[in-house]
Order: sequence, then structure tokens, then C-alpha cells
Amino acid sequence: MYNNEQTIALQKKTTEWLANVNASNISGIVKNNTEDLRNCLRFHEYRYYVQNDPLISDFEYDTLYKLLEHFEKENPGAVTTDSPTQRVGKGLIKDFPKTPHLVPMLSLENSYNADDLLDFDRKAREISGLHEIEYCVEPKFDGASISLVYEDDMLIRGVTRGDGEVGDEITLNVKQIRSVPLSAKFSEYGIEQIEIRGEVLMNKNNFKAYNDALIEEGIPPLANPRNAAAGSLRIKDTAEVSKRNLEAFLYHVSYDHATTAQPKTANAPQDPAEKPETHSGMLEMLWNLGFRSPKNEMKVFKGIDAVIKHVHDFEKVRDNLGYEIDGMVIKVNDLKLQDRLGMTSHHPRWAIAFKFKARQGTSKLLAVEFQVGRTGAVTPVAKIEPVQVGGVTVGSISIHNEAYIKEKDLMLGDTILIERSGDVIPQIVKSFPELRTSDEKKIEFPTLCPVCSSALYKPEEDAVWRCVSLTCPAQIAEGIIHFVSKDAMDIRSFGEANVRKFYEMGLLRSIPDIYSLPYDEIGKLDGFGEKSIIKLQQAIEDSKKQPLNRIIYALGIRYVGETTAKTLANAVDHLTDFAAFSEEQLMQLDDVGVKVAKTVYSFFHNADNLKLLQKLEELGVQLKNEKKGTVTDGNLSGLTFLFTGTLSQLKRSDAEALVERNGGKILGAVSSRLNYLVAGESAGSKLEKAKKIPAIHVISEEEFIKMLPSSK
Ligand code: IVH
Repeated sequence: MYNNEQTIALQKKTTEWLANVNASNISGIVKNNTEDLRNCLRFHEYRYYVQNDPLISDFEYDTLYKLLEHFEKENPGAVTTDSPTQRVGKGLIKDFPKTPHLVPMLSLENSYNADDLLDFDRKAREISGLHEIEYCVEPKFDGASISLVYEDDMLIRGVTRGDGEVGDEITLNVKQIRSVPLSAKFSEYGIEQIEIRGEVLMNKNNFKAYNDALIEEGIPPLANPRNAAAGSLRIKDTAEVSKRNLEAFLYHVSYDHATTAQPKTANAPQDPAEKPETHSGMLEMLWNLGFRSPKNEMKVFKGIDAVIKHVHDFEKVRDNLGYEIDGMVIKVNDLKLQDRLGMTSHHPRWAIAFKFKARQGTSKLLAVEFQVGRTGAVTPVAKIEPVQVGGVTVGSISIHNEAYIKEKDLMLGDTILIERSGDVIPQIVKSFPELRTSDEKKIEFPTLCPVCSSALYKPEEDAVWRCVSLTCPAQIAEGIIHFVSKDAMDIRSFGEANVRKFYEMGLLRSIPDIYSLPYDEIGKLDGFGEKSIIKLQQAIEDSKKQPLNRIIYALGIRYVGETTAKTLANAVDHLTDFAAFSEEQLMQLDDVGVKVAKTVYSFFHNADNLKLLQKLEELGVQLKNEKKGTVTDGNLSGLTFLFTGTLSQLKRSDAEALVERNGGKILGAVSSRLNYLVAGESAGSKLEKAKKIPAIHVISEEEFIKMLPSSK
């Protein structure tokens, strides 16, 4: 899309714009060079969203974006439909009008093994009379399919698949997908109108963050990123769609119409560029026009044998990708040959999908057990006939709450479809009411706490039933498990099993007991040698010095997640200072709303809780704020890091502390959730593994230091 020369020129322009932002005559400069500024922004969107290789920081992009936005607000007449500002939704969409596709969106024939592919190849060779066929193989993206129409180089329509003939027009929502260009120079190929097909995805990181946020709100998570993408496209508030960070791969031109004798576009060239003759060439063309096509993910092979090997190899690395795929698509590469092979009424004869091992499976809902969490929430857990899904045996699944049971129409004895996609916890996709035999039974919710038998209670605004007894053993044990957990006080050698064991034995009955454990008794237990006791003792001792934000998070105050805990930690010199805060004062803090203010207020106005804090302090836990003001939700917020190899300027532990102080997180291993691997001298297997996952940025120690706020 942008050659070296253009890249250098645009980057130079960007630097100039950034240097001029505060100039006194800046509005005049923007007025005379608006399209130049827009081109800079388009270029950086492309670097970020299509190439995944940004050249400027988010802050710098935002600065230029705001500059353009401000100018356009003052000069509404100068706004163009493909201005980068035009992605931002204009409030609420009323409805999604039914709209026919230019060409019906047929689906693909499926194949599951080598024989199916050999068969497909044999038929294609028979019809074509060729001895060997060239194939282009690309991932089968597991998202929501869409079609886009561009006319005179402008994106004019985005439509969902619908029934294949007619879909829902979702243009405004499609514009929220930053990798979809609002305009593209099809005129250079002599194309006046074109319809392109592709798949909208939510990547695994965003999906996980989205589901985590739902869970924190007490809302059941979504079963898979496909549902998340499809659901997001149907939201009527475009600003909300924008927040979902959707992505799109465009992989097929279904229709194109040549420019008529009188070109409508002023910039249509006299001699249009040659249109590609192969599918791989077409992916290249789309890429060059600024689309995220699977150009880098596709491969071309001569003959089906190499294709078969490739699809099997690819299945082994599917988990390393940042997004979900459910197979591969094999396409005849020669477009003329595609035309000759044609279509059946259901699918093209020139393409076939090779489906990977399913991540779904059917099972039976045998029973429902009710578990009590640390907030007293009673969660129904479905016990199901064990079933293998995505290489794991699943025997029980959380079914969240009563409303969820109703929504999924679940009954005991039902046949159910379950899914486990990527590293997401398994979910029930749906039940099959049509298979009921009338032996199925309604799921009865208990009225008493299954652990302590006190009456359950459901606040009006809540979706879950709760046990509100302060002495409920389940809540106490779960609360202690949360307190010692990795993201809270991080008492590494404690672990859930030990908490439960000590709790049941009566050695640990409250959070402060952690700091006065009877080690002589524990030493007599099976599996506790001298070494493990010393390790446990040391880990507990170390936790006394954890920063205040971790203690706040560890206390498990409702709605106080890690980010809110950081905000709160910055507001006081000592934890018990909160006892003097009113709800209104709490709401003055960043991102603290009514809900959080209420729960924080009531936590610090409860005499038992204050006593607990006093006891912790007496036992040596640091409640004074040693680092007031340094716990920022800084510019690493939401990002994950891992260090490997030897660092030359920083100690590993200091580097990790810097990440956390700036709002980032340290991961324990390389996984698709990792954003940055900081590789020092003689980095080994972690580096090798990270290189195979495209979403991970491998950076040097210097680059890491540059990301920190103090170095800017
Ligand atoms: S080609 C005329 N390529 O899979 C054929 N489809 O089960 C056009 N899909 O409806 C489709 N990745 O929504 C094609 N690389 C890819 C794909 C892909 C995902 C979807 C598409 C299609 C469905 C068929």
C-alpha cells in the first residue's frame, strides 16, 4: 500500500504536524492542508490496524486526530465522507434496513479429512481437464461474514450475510472497524463498483477482556468470539461498537463493475492497472489498496497433496494465532478456471472448507449444583456427561444465574451443545428442546444457602441470589482464596487447595489468621516438609509489604477490580482513611461511580471490617501508603509483559515493578494473551515461542524503557 518512499514522506509530514500542533496559525495550516492531515491519519490507521506495526504512539495519533476533528467542527462544510473522523458514530442507529447483496453470499462445502479433499481435487481436474491444479489456501476465519460495497472509491455500504440473498445494512457499524478503509483507489484498476466479502472478528485478547468485564459486572460471558463479533455488529450505539475493537479480514471479490466510458471519478486513470488473474493476486491487490486481506496468511500450492499437508500442519498452530479460525479454505487460484468450474446452488465448485477438530460437542445436563462464592453469590454449576471438547474433558460448566437458565432454556436431562474456544472457559451454547422426551425436569433454585442454610436474598438490581450471612464458611474460604491469589497479595505457595485444607481443619478461619498460622501443626501434615513450610512462611512474610492497591483489591470489596483499587490507593495515606470518606467524596475519584462508591463506603463503615484491618496492621501488614501517587493507571494500562534473557540496565524485579506501577501486568508464560516480550541478552525458548505468535511484540530493553512515561 505504502512504498518506502511514501512511508518516509508520510512519517516526515507526521513529525511536522506534531511539531506544529501548538503553532498560533495552526488552524490556517489545517485549512490549507486538510487532505494532507487526513492522509497522515489514514497512513497511521493502516500501520496500526492492518499492518499491526504502528510508527507513532496512541497519544500522538490522538493529538493529530483531535486537530482534524476540531477543524471539521468549526468548518462543517469541509468534512468529507472518507475523513478519518467519519468513523465516529453519529449517535443511535434506528434500524438495520434489509438490503440485497449484489451477488448472493453462498457458503462453502465442508470437508473433514484428506479423502474429502482428494475428491474435491479429482472433480475439479475432471471438469477442467487439467492434470494438476494450483490452489490458494488461507485460514477460515471464525467470525461474522459481511459484504462491503465501494462505489467511485468510497465505502457506501456494509451488509451482514443474512439469508445469503438479503442481509441487514450495518454501514455505520462497519465504519467502526478501523482496518476497513473508508475509501480505496479501485479507480486505478478501472473499477467503478465492487462488492467484497470478508469476516468480522473479535481477537482473543479483546474477547477475553470483554468477557472479564462482563463477569465483573455480574453478566454472563459470551460463549465465543464469533458471537461477540456478530452481536457487536448489531448494536445500535455506534460508540459502543467502536469500543469493541472489531477487526476484519477481506478475502473475496464477489462482483466488480468496470468504469463506464465517462469516468465519474476525476482521478480515474486513462490506463487502468491490470486486474489480477489469480485469487492470490486479488488478495495482493486488496492488500495494496489498504485492506487487511489474508495476503500474509495465504499460501499457494501446486496439487492437492501439498495442500493436505499444509492444512494439517496449520491445525497444529491454530492456537498460536491471535484470533479464532475453524479451518482452512482451499480455493482454485486461477480466476478464469474458477469461472469455468462455476457454482452449484449451494456453493462454489472452486473452493472448499477444511474444518478443524470441533471445539463444540453435545452432552447431557445431568444435575445442577449450587456453589457459594466469596461475595455470597450462589452460582449454579451444571454437571454434564463428560465430553471431549478441543482436547479437554469437560464435566461441569458454570451456568451463571436464573436469567441465563431461562435464556438458554435449560432443563435437567436436556441435550446441550457446549463450546470451549481457545483458552476461554467452556460455555453452553444452547439446548435442544426438540429432543425432549418429557422426562426432563425444571431446575429448582434453592431458597437456603447450600453451605450454611441461611435464607438467600436477591437485591432488586442484581441478577444473582446471595447468601448474606457474614459467618457463611463458603464465603470466608473463598474470600481467603481471593486474598492470597496472584493478582491480590500474591502469596505464591499458598494456593486454593491449602486454603481449603487449613480452613476445614480449623487452622485458618479468617484473613488475619494467615499471618498467625500454627506452623508446628502444619508441619505434621502430609506433604509439608521443612522446606515447604519455610517457603510458605517467607511468602506470607513478603506479602506484608505489598502495595496498598493490592491490599484493597485483595479485600474483595464488590465491584472493586484491580484498576479501581489503584485509583483508591492513590487517594489516601493510610487505608483506614477511607472511613472518613463520604460517598460523594469517593465519587470525585476517577472512574468511581455510584455503584463502587456505595460498596466502598459501606465496607469502610462496617465495624467488623475496620477491626479486621486493625488486626492485619497489628500482625505487620503494611496499611500505610508508602507509594502514594505512584500507582498509576499509566500508559501501560491493559498491556501484558514478560521478560526473558538477561537485562543490562534494569534488574528483572525492578522492570516488573515498573510495568505494574504503570498499569501493566506481568504474565507467567508466553501465550496469546501476551502483548510484549522484552528480550534481553541470550533469550531462549520464550523468544522462539513468542516469534511464532504474530500478536506478540518482541521488544528490546531500550524499547521497553522508552515506553515508560518518565522517559518521554
Ligand atoms: S470464501 C463464494 N474464504 O466461511 C465463497 N469464506 O462456511 C466465498 N469464511 O460464508 C467464501 N473465512 O463467511 C471464504 N478465507 C475465507 C473464509 C470464509 C471464513 C466464511 C464465510 C463463508 C463461510 C462458509
